[in-house]
Amino acid sequence: MNEISWKPVKRFITSVALATAGLAFSTTSFAWLEDQSGELDAAMHLKPDLENGRDVFEVCAGCHLTEGWGKKDGTFPQLAGQHKEVLIKQLADIRAGNRDNPTMYPFAQPEAIGGAQALADVVAYIAKLPMNPDNGKGPWPEGTPEFEKGKKLYEDNCVKCHGKHGEGNAKKFYPRIQGQHYLYMLRQFEWIRDGKRRNANPEMVKQIKNFTDEQEKLVINYVSRIPVPKEDLAPSKDWLNPDFD
Ligand code: HEC
Ligand code: HEC
Repeated sequence: MNEISWKPVKRFITSVALATAGLAFSTTSFAWLEDQSGELDAAMHLKPDLENGRDVFEVCAGCHLTEGWGKKDGTFPQLAGQHKEVLIKQLADIRAGNRDNPTMYPFAQPEAIGGAQALADVVAYIAKLPMNPDNGKGPWPEGTPEFEKGKKLYEDNCVKCHGKHGEGNAKKFYPRIQGQHYLYMLRQFEWIRDGKRRNANPEMVKQIKNFTDEQEKLVINYVSRIPVPKEDLAPSKDWLNPDFD
């Protein structure tokens, strides 16, 4: 973990006090979410400071890379281009221990990155990053029977929440899954199905509980191959984030 810089960390401890002031503006409620601190609501409504977001992101980049692209081997998910509402919910869940992530847990704590304002800043920064044009894909290309089977499974079971093109739904906290790495999604899908990801949407759990391991691979193969709109992609897979020159 040598590559993680602690410079921004110190700075953000001082911003915690400021951010707490924002907690009063809690308005929305989240059906399947316990948000005891009200932090998530607060972060959702604060005006983001992108420069600060870039500084906070330095901590995250140690694992998710400066481009926010994660890794094809599935260890770290791509964050670039994810809806900020989804990012906030996942971060708040990891922070509160509702979603197990021992590797990242210490880096998600207010002591490491700051309070609601830092959350709002970093997710606004991440959501604007261009996505990886070369995400990790499953084994079956378009034109194979396996691809078609996965497509059918997707249309029958996933479209109503994740959308026709895997674009998700920010208002409902349904993640964008187009462009995400195959191996990462496979693990998440299995954890959600088997109840290991405790923050999962109970309706998704119900929808996929009878999926076999084979069907799971087929549907995730399809998702990993849904094209991302060109305007959301980086110009090439060799693109480097200029903010981190
Ligand atoms: C030490 C490594 C590490 C650091 C540092 C780290 N993360 Fe993560 N992060 C992970 C891992 C590993 C996962 C996937 C966990 C899993 O498989 O469930 C993850 C998952 C996530 C997710 C969930 C993504 C999704 O698609 O549901 C978000 C959001 C996230 N990280 C944001 C951040 C932010 C923001 C920071 C910086 C403040 C950060 N991470 C720092 C390792 C790290
Ligand atoms: C009832 C709505 C719903 C349905 C149906 C549904 N999902 Fe989900 N899915 C969600 C929500 C909500 C999450 C985020 C869970 C959370 O809050 O942590 C999610 C998370 C995921 C993730 C993890 C994403 C990440 O970034 O960590 C994958 C992969 C996924 N869904 C794939 C699928 C596939 C494939 C199907 C169909 C077989 C499906 N989902 C059906 C709502 C749904």
